[in-house]
Amino acid sequence: SVLEMEVEQINKGKYEHYMQKEIHEQPESLTTTMRGRLLLGGTSKAKGVLLGGLKDHLKKIRRSRRIVFIGCGTSYNAALAARSLVEELSGIPVTMEIASDLVDRQGPIYREDTVVFVSQSGETADTLQALDYALENDALCVGITNTVGSAIARRTHCGVHINAGCEIGVASTKAYTSQIVVMVMLALAIGDDTISSKVRREAIIDGLFDLPSKAKEVLKLDQEMEDLAQLLIAEQSLLVFGRGYNYATALEGALKVKEVALMHSEGILAGEMKHGPLALVDETLPIVVIATRDTCFSKQQSVIQQLHARKGRLIVMCTEGDAESVCAGGSCRVIEVPQVEDCLQPVINVIPLQLLAYHLTVLRGYNVDQPRNLAKSVTTQ
Ligand code: G6P
Repeated sequence: SVLEMEVEQINKGKYEHYMQKEIHEQPESLTTTMRGRLLLGGTSKAKGVLLGGLKDHLKKIRRSRRIVFIGCGTSYNAALAARSLVEELSGIPVTMEIASDLVDRQGPIYREDTVVFVSQSGETADTLQALDYALENDALCVGITNTVGSAIARRTHCGVHINAGCEIGVASTKAYTSQIVVMVMLALAIGDDTISSKVRREAIIDGLFDLPSKAKEVLKLDQEMEDLAQLLIAEQSLLVFGRGYNYATALEGALKVKEVALMHSEGILAGEMKHGPLALVDETLPIVVIATRDTCFSKQQSVIQQLHARKGRLIVMCTEGDAESVCAGGSCRVIEVPQVEDCLQPVINVIPLQLLAYHLTVLRGYNVDQPRNLAKSVTTQ
């Protein structure tokens, strides 16, 4: 029953902390997020996605001049991870807004805009203010939340529940990966009427089917991430470099580390490296570089070479099988992850970083589930 499921959710079971449980639960939460929404296809039926809460609004969304993603914290990062796929499959420009910043600027929002509000709790004050503002400006408002009946779910015109199950740890983990999957499904739904992207869309749908098992595989890095955490336990700072689909992974990995491990950490767009961050590189500062296979791979390889040239202390996240080649010409530690469809790779790549943040926190002796000064849901300004 639903009640039993909920009781199960708030039980830590064999885990010591909720954050740990929620990280390890991701193969299941991803499955629940996709349940009933992926159409396998068959002889007469096409492969596709079905998002019940959106189907009556898809035509209007496809006609919009712009899609605006709005969120705070981890929810913003999830939207950023899905941004380029939504642009690719819809052909509509997507702009990103941190909720408080849109409200501060009173930035232009038009009735031809589709504005997507991403929020785990559905109750974040800044996001709600941005929603009121977008409603006043007559935009079509879409909610993506994990909480049925939440303010954002109620006040938007339509939306999708992420169905990740109750998340208790203040630092969001399973909700993040489910949010990305929902926005990938949103991109597939919007692009559903485009013949030219059919092969691409079908490959992504196949990738979604396989994603829970790949998440399970990457969770086997738990011990390796604990060892890495042991190595980094006394550091002051950790940089995370990413680009393309994994710029969001860099931001989210760094956010986890600062939120729970109380260590300064910064996610950096690798393309901006020469415009400042390179000045920080020396033999002591640890730097995670995300360099899994996609169209940005060769650019990331050259970033690694340039960091090597400055004797950077590198931890490279690469695709399985690339460990030898990715660090050629220098020494570094590697984190090998399974390869999935490029736009789904952020779901896999963030998991080792979640584990790293978790173990760093435990080893440093801080409160994992309720980091000092932070709240799960920020309902005041
Ligand atoms: C707080 C939480 C974060 C969360 C953010 C946005 O800062 O500590 O984990 O990402 O709010 O919350 P929302 O519920 O809107 O996704």
